[in-house]
Amino acid sequence: MLRATLLRLSENGTIRRWMETSPTADRLTSRFVAGHAVEQEIAVIERLSGERTLATVDYLGEGVKSIEEAAKTRDAYLAILDRVARLGVGATISIKLTQFGLGMSGLGISKDVCRDNVDPLVAKAKELGTSVEIDMEQSGYVDPTLEIVASMHARYGCVRSVIQAYLLRSEKDVERLNGDRIPIRLCKGAYKEPAGVAFQKKSEVDRNYVRLVDMMLAGGAYPAVATHDEKMVNAALRTVKDRGIAPDRFEFQMLYGIRRDLQRRLVADGYRLRLYVPFGDAWYPYFMRRLAERPANLMFLVRNFFRR
Ligand code: FDA
Repeated sequence: MLRATLLRLSENGTIRRWMETSPTADRLTSRFVAGHAVEQEIAVIERLSGERTLATVDYLGEGVKSIEEAAKTRDAYLAILDRVARLGVGATISIKLTQFGLGMSGLGISKDVCRDNVDPLVAKAKELGTSVEIDMEQSGYVDPTLEIVASMHARYGCVRSVIQAYLLRSEKDVERLNGDRIPIRLCKGAYKEPAGVAFQKKSEVDRNYVRLVDMMLAGGAYPAVATHDEKMVNAALRTVKDRGIAPDRFEFQMLYGIRRDLQRRLVADGYRLRLYVPFGDAWYPYFMRRLAERPANLMFLVRNFFRR
């Protein structure tokens, strides 16, 4: 109930504008977001590298409304990619296709606009020796997203697709991506989806996650296990042991600021860990989804806000 309300609020444009321009917002967001400027992002990536942790950069934003905005995102990401690759610490970038023009309301050409904006970014990632991880958004975007992933993979190779374990269709998608040797990031899924397309019970999502992790580790190309759920992490580690998979054949991924204890433990045990580190001004929908995942965060944040 609270989760559904927070997810509904995450899509409210009026509250979003009000929150994102609030002078006190940083007090709320600093746990999950590196900062507003690319320099703050770079500082976090360098610190993480010193802690033997990799990063993937998310320049916050989604659901752009015009071709100009989408082109601006592309140019911003091209500059970010350059800065980040020059650090030489193995960082990747993560993008949301609705930030590059997918689904622009009223524009039937949105998929082509999106593909044209993503293409130079993936080309540049290849040139710089890194890769582009393509986030998965609401279920209506899965088909066009997978189409763009497949075409970028065919042209450049250096892309990773996200699969959400809560979707009923995901087993077939994992099978296809494994067959095409396209790396997958497996997460549970962060949006509100109806029963016709997604499992509704946590136990069902978890069961599917374990099944898909096994498929990915057994037959996928350099998979990423993205979760903060210790049960999912342990299930992955069991598969890794049972199948004798070397620690450099896959990676764990987590979100910046979440389950730092588990992050440290995995690194200490010799596993690869990559953190998803967002920065930028358009933080509201991302932040609200983090609250929806764990409504207890709400109380934690309110307490911290007034303590400072
Ligand atoms: P679950 O929600 O069951 O949580 C397990 C435990 O983790 C909780 O008990 C708590 O301890 C901790 N935890 C989880 N979320 C927390 C939070 N917000 N604050 C504090 N503690 C928390 N989704 C999507 O739809 N598309 C995408 O492209 C991505 N990309 C992505 C990248 C990476 C690197 C990660 C880690 C996650 C995503 N996600 C995503 C989000 C994902 O779908 C999911 O919503 C969250 O990871 C939460 O699910 P868990 O697997 O952590 O399990």
